Amino acid sequence: MRRLVSETRVHPAQLVLPLFVREDIAGEVPISSMPGVSQHDLDSLRRTAVAAAEAGVGGVMLFGIPEVRDAHGSQASDPEGILQVATRALVAEVGDALVVQTDLCLDEFTDHGHCGVLDANGAVNNDATLERYVEMALAQARAGSALLGLSGMMDGQTAAVREALDGAGFTDTALLAYSAKYASAFYGPFREAVDSQLQGDRRTYQLDPGNRREGMRETLIDLAEGADIVMVKPAMSYLDVLSDVAAASEVPVWAYQVSGEYAMIEAAAARGWIDRRRAIEESVTGIRRAGADAVLTYWATELAGWLR
Ligand code: PBG
Repeated sequence: MRRLVSETRVHPAQLVLPLFVREDIAGEVPISSMPGVSQHDLDSLRRTAVAAAEAGVGGVMLFGIPEVRDAHGSQASDPEGILQVATRALVAEVGDALVVQTDLCLDEFTDHGHCGVLDANGAVNNDATLERYVEMALAQARAGSALLGLSGMMDGQTAAVREALDGAGFTDTALLAYSAKYASAFYGPFREAVDSQLQGDRRTYQLDPGNRREGMRETLIDLAEGADIVMVKPAMSYLDVLSDVAAASEVPVWAYQVSGEYAMIEAAAARGWIDRRRAIEESVTGIRRAGADAVLTYWATELAGWLR
């Protein structure tokens, strides 16, 4: 009876697995603040993506960690940069089974760790950053990425990237706009995951955690600029924003269950304080119930296995 009247289901195809590929390693390097998640070299990346495909996961979101960083994040748009090399490898291996997606942001590639390039005063220069995002977008599209994850929170990024892609003939490359992305403490473990060099914070370009209306406003702007999918991030502390966006959006709405959300449940479960599997299932069900059509989660493959 409960199954028959259940209002919310999670299907493996609604899950996206974030993956970290690192240039200067052999094999896997475990991320200590995210037990069970690793940085990968190309071989272990391929194996992890194949396992996700076999579990029926809908897609993977790739993050690249370069060996060399500089002020402009040059490796982010280099055709031989690790993110482009890894994208080509995954598209060849699992491109028919999974939607291979790429993070479009500079923070993994800059030596200062910000999501954009800086001006003479050390502040992020929004419009100069858009030029770099356009170069990244073209490099990622050429590498075969199906969906570009615009996670940098620069004003005008969706329109700038869409125009550049269309101008270069990449009319089928889709855009996932991280529209309502909050300046969150729950990104903490991600800093270790991508070996981030960030000093300070991202509060000049990411949203203030208390601002619900502004999350909606940012989403409407991205929709007008041509976003194919919009995102709310983090998920668990922003379910009201997610619900608002889901009610208003005419395109799919996704949510990102971020590194700190993962780490909290893993840490409590490791101490025997909560039931790990139930907590994972409940957390993702809650995000779906609030309005997410799909969820980025580090548990994607394991959860898909339970669901099947
Ligand atoms: C930016 C980006 C971040 C995350 C995804 N993309 C870090 C940030 O904005 O500070 C965080 C994801 C997570 O915590 O799981 N490239």
